[in-house]
Amino acid sequence: MKVFETIDDMREWSRAERATGKRVAFVPTMGALHEGHLTLMREGVRRGAALAVSIFVNPTQFDQAGDFAAYPRKIEGDLDKCRAEGTTAVFVPTDTTIYPNGHSTSVTIGGVTENLCGAARPGHFRGVATVVAKLFNIVQPDIAIFGEKDFQQLVVIRRMVRDLDLPIEIIGCPTVREPDGLAMSSRNKRLTPSERRSALALHRSLAAAEEMVRAGKSDSKSILKKVRQTMEAMGGVRVDYAKIVDADTLKDIAKVKSPALLAIAAFVGDTRLIDNKLFS
Ligand code: PAJ
Repeated sequence: MKVFETIDDMREWSRAERATGKRVAFVPTMGALHEGHLTLMREGVRRGAALAVSIFVNPTQFDQAGDFAAYPRKIEGDLDKCRAEGTTAVFVPTDTTIYPNGHSTSVTIGGVTENLCGAARPGHFRGVATVVAKLFNIVQPDIAIFGEKDFQQLVVIRRMVRDLDLPIEIIGCPTVREPDGLAMSSRNKRLTPSERRSALALHRSLAAAEEMVRAGKSDSKSILKKVRQTMEAMGGVRVDYAKIVDADTLKDIAKVKSPALLAIAAFVGDTRLIDNKLFS
């Protein structure tokens, strides 16, 4: 496995792989890798591609400086995990490689960024889209793989690829969960044991909603009331948002129809967690 720190080295690897007729698959990450990330890597290998992974904690997508500082960084363990999954190249740029002095261009996407995390975290998706566009230009993959855990991010990236005519196939993979249902996240590492118990409130509230939909309920208002109640019933959980949206446009909808997305965000202690359930 090769580890690259410069843009030129990363590009050269990609060019050489494609020259041998291989497809290049790309999994962008911010590290502190867990099973969710590894599943995306396996999908790339399964597709027979040379796999590139990036590990870069992107400062421009954090709306809180404290969150950026506290974000877990575990580079040695991460490289071992990449190696074990058959990754061929890992890109680990520094902040100044990605954002050299004078960097002043960003990618702004309308519509699908306006609701949910886009509304709750101003500038977040501008940071995500900008870094992903840059990483796409550096790694030059044929396919790029993202998790449905960050459903809005996946929709935003698909929009960007379509709108900017980027020749990259975007693949979405289902959310990987802990045995008790908590969606895996690098931020889970920051939870205290009691917060870890409280964090289960997110998955429980999605399960409560799923039960209501299965029982024939479809009005968003009553489902979201139940979702909030279920989350708030657990001490130490503060709901950031709970919304039911059209899964394509991400606009609020009054009734669950196909495909609808129930998306939630909550603070457990100081840690902000998100989760979602797709009704299709
Ligand atoms: P990060 O949070 O490290 O996630 C990297 C990828 O792993 C994303 O596509 C995310 O959706 C996916 N992922 C995270 N947890 C998952 C889970 N439990 N199941 C399945 N997939 C999961 O998302 C980012 O980094 C950044 O915004 C990035 C795209 C790298 C841009 O900086």
